[in-house]
Amino acid sequence: MYLVGVTGGIAAYKTAELVRLFMREGNEVQVVMTPGAAQFVTPLTFQTLTGRPALVDQFWVSDGEKVRHIDLASAARVFVIAPATANTIGKLARGIADNLLTTIYLAARCPVVVVPSMNEQMYLHPAVQENLSRLREHGCLVMEPDTGDLACGICGKGRLPELSQIAAFVSSSLREKDFRGLRALVTAGPTREPLDPVRFISNRSTGRMGYAIAAALAERGAKVILVSGPTALPRPAGVEFVPVETARQMHGAVLERFGATDLVIKAAAVSDYCPAETAEQKIKKGDGRALTLQQNPDILEELGRCKEKQILVGFAMETEKAAEYAREKLRRKNLDLIVLNDLTVPGAGFGSLTNQVCIFNRAGGAEELPLMSKELLAHRILDRVRPLVPARP
Ligand code: C5P
Repeated sequence: MYLVGVTGGIAAYKTAELVRLFMREGNEVQVVMTPGAAQFVTPLTFQTLTGRPALVDQFWVSDGEKVRHIDLASAARVFVIAPATANTIGKLARGIADNLLTTIYLAARCPVVVVPSMNEQMYLHPAVQENLSRLREHGCLVMEPDTGDLACGICGKGRLPELSQIAAFVSSSLREKDFRGLRALVTAGPTREPLDPVRFISNRSTGRMGYAIAAALAERGAKVILVSGPTALPRPAGVEFVPVETARQMHGAVLERFGATDLVIKAAAVSDYCPAETAEQKIKKGDGRALTLQQNPDILEELGRCKEKQILVGFAMETEKAAEYAREKLRRKNLDLIVLNDLTVPGAGFGSLTNQVCIFNRAGGAEELPLMSKELLAHRILDRVRPLVPARP
C-alpha cells in the first residue's frame, strides 16, 4: 500500500492527480492529510479517488482498529509526502508528532519520499534547508522542487515537480539496488561521420533505448558511464556523460574505459562506414564527386576479442534473416547476450517510445518479449543481464 501524505500547500490540489497516477500503476493508496491540507482539498476528494477515507483526525479510531498510526506505518510500502510544506518539514526534522501525518512519520520504517513545494524565499531559507538536510540524514528521499511560476505570483524554485517525475522517483526509491557496486558502460544514439564541415552520414537512432538502459542501471545502483552520439534527449540523472560524435571517437571513449568496467551494453547505432576523406571546406555543387567510404572499427567486436571478465551485451537491427544474423553476431563478437529489435512490428525500433525484442543468449536460448515501453524493456533486459555479472567483492 502507498501511503500518501498531503500537507497544507496550494499544490495539494495536484496530489489528487498524483494519487490517480499511483492507482493507475496498480497500487492501493491510503491518503493522510494534515488539518491544513484539508483546508485546500477536501478529504472527500481523496476518498472518492481511492475508495478509502482520507484520514485527518489523529484521535478518531474506527471499529477493529488498534493503534492507527502504527498500523498505517507498518502497512505502507512507501510514504510519499507531497506537497511537503516548510511547517511539516520542520516538524518531521525535529520529531514533533502533533497530527496523524507527523506521528506516522516517526513510526514508519518504509522508504519516505518528501516532495517540498513552497515559495522560493521560504524554500531557500536556512531553516528549511537545514531541516531538509536533517531529513536526508534520517534516510528520507527528498526531491528537488522545479523552477517556474509559483502560486504566489513570482517565478522561482519551489514548484511541485511534474507528477510523472514524482511517480518515477517513487518507483526508483522502491527498486532493488541489485547492480550496486557494479561499473557499467552504455553506448547510445547514432554516430555522425562528417563529409565536410556541414554534412554527415548518420542514421535514424534517437538514443532512447540506450538512455533508458543507462537510467535503469543507475536506478538499480550501478555506477554508469553513458557514451552517447548526438541526441535530443535530456541526460539521465546520476550518470557520467561522455558525448561523442563519430564512431572513431566512440571507439576511443569506450576502449579507454573498458578495463575498469564490469558490464558493457552497446545500444548505439554505430555507422559501419565513414567517408574515406572529410573535405576541409564545404563541398560545392557540381563537384560531381563519387563518395568513397571506408569501414569504421567494430567497437563491440574489438571488446569481444579483448574481454576478460566483462559481460558484453549487443543490439542488432536487421531487415532480413534477423534471428540467424543475430546468433551469428553473438558468436562472432563474443557477446553474452544480444537484443534483436523486431523492425517488422509497428511501434518497435528507431524513434518509437516502445520496442519489441528477442533476447538471444550464449547457450542458444531465445526469449521473445512483448511490445512494451523502452523504459520497462530496459529493466527487463537488465533482469536477464544481472545473473550473468559476477558480484563484486
Ligand atoms: O554488426 P552490427 O552493426 O549489426 O552490430 C550491432 C552491435 O554492434 C550494436 O550493439 C552496436 O552498438 C555494435 N557496433 C559497434 N561498432 C560498430 C558497429 C556496431 O560496437 N562499428
